[in-house]
Amino acid sequence: MINETLSSSMMFKASKNNIVEFEVINLRDFGIGPRKQVDDTPYGGGDGMLLKPEPVFEAVRHAKLSNKGAKVVLMTPAGTVMSQASVKQMAEHKDNLIIICPHYEGYDERILSLVNEKVSIGQYILTGGELPALVLIDSIVRLLPGVLGGEKSAEIESFSEPNLIEFPQYTKPREFNGMNVPEVLLNGHHAEILKWQKDNYKKAV
Ligand code: ADE
Repeated sequence: MINETLSSSMMFKASKNNIVEFEVINLRDFGIGPRKQVDDTPYGGGDGMLLKPEPVFEAVRHAKLSNKGAKVVLMTPAGTVMSQASVKQMAEHKDNLIIICPHYEGYDERILSLVNEKVSIGQYILTGGELPALVLIDSIVRLLPGVLGGEKSAEIESFSEPNLIEFPQYTKPREFNGMNVPEVLLNGHHAEILKWQKDNYKKAV
């Protein structure tokens, strides 16, 4: 899932252009025993399997060999919910990130001793941390200079002003199914267009 997403569209373009570098590490490569075990049953009982500490410690140690100062992020619904402001900060700091995404019911608590930041993508629970990790990566990478092409678009678009999402936009054709592009956008008056866009910001909530 991760390799496929990182090798398509903007993520692919960003890595091809050396704006970002991805290394996907399979925890199973650091699994224990002949079955390369990465999960086990919880002490004290309970449903499901937990991510074992040893493979995660080994994988993070491996990741740090080529990435000494990297910040370790754990994707978990118990983390701080990310926002445009928090991803902007990460993009600006250009932190190297080691992102741990558990694909299990949970993780051994000792894994937290490795972690600098716990990040959630929202108040709901997914089956694993892969999609949340991809959401985090995508939201950061698109803010890196050179990724979007139109350098300004990440800055002026959605959520760059608190509680505002972008204004309505239109492309050709001028008339579609009886719905017309607003006249003001066709008249070429830059100031009037800007004013119309500001007046028509859609509120996020
Ligand atoms: N893993 C499962 N659900 C998650 C969420 N909402 N955010 C981050 N990681 C998760």
